[in-house]
Amino acid sequence: MSSTSPRAGIVIAIDGPAASGKSSTARAVAAALGYRHLDSGAFYRALTLALLRSGIPEQEWDSLTASDLAQLQVAGVAEAGGYLFRIGSEEVTGEIRSPAVSASVSRVAAIPAVRDWLLGTLRAAGAKGGLVADGRDIGTVVFPDAELKVFLVCAPQERALRRLREQGDASASVEDIRAEAERLRTRDHLDSSREVAPLLRAADAITLDTTGLAFNSQVDAILRLARTRAGG
Ligand code: CDP
Repeated sequence: MSSTSPRAGIVIAIDGPAASGKSSTARAVAAALGYRHLDSGAFYRALTLALLRSGIPEQEWDSLTASDLAQLQVAGVAEAGGYLFRIGSEEVTGEIRSPAVSASVSRVAAIPAVRDWLLGTLRAAGAKGGLVADGRDIGTVVFPDAELKVFLVCAPQERALRRLREQGDASASVEDIRAEAERLRTRDHLDSSREVAPLLRAADAITLDTTGLAFNSQVDAILRLARTRAGG
């Protein structure tokens, strides 16, 4: 990092495919270290919700400019430990997780103007250090100099099951799990194959496979790495 002011801690980048546990893990790691958590996907989700509500036809999304995006009035407001999201004066932090937003977010995240527009906001959050950021391009594009980079992977069936439970479906059928795994696969394909800032493991990232791993174990594994890097 190029900043010369005293830093409040290291930057930890956690990337990985959909529903691999990035955000919940990043949040717990940040809380344990007293760092801020930056869920970059939430910014893409908030913008997607605003676009879906705006009535701007999807065919026009690719030609949106920075000033069009500003007019959507999406704001990520820093809160204790994390962010809450508003469109205008309405708080939308819960609604950005809806299936409708999930179905369109990868389409929106592939628009170069959208990525340009958010890059400055995301980087500013890490300028002082003391940050755990999660997403798809955190270790490759947003914070290429992060002191610790982790790439989380997990088997598709387990990711689907976790996502359904997160949405309140405690008794998912085999068919539900199969359908959710297919939705995740579609999103991963779009995220990995786009031209700008695709989902990619940074060359210096540590891969952590969380299949069958207890949540606390994956958090502890990252905390051990973080303490080594922060002290080094
Ligand atoms: O939590 P989940 O794995 O469902 O995804 P998310 O982190 O909320 O991100 C939602 C979508 O935003 C992803 O599928 C990507 O299309 C996009 N995204 C991105 O392009 N770059 C990031 N750094 C983070 C998210």
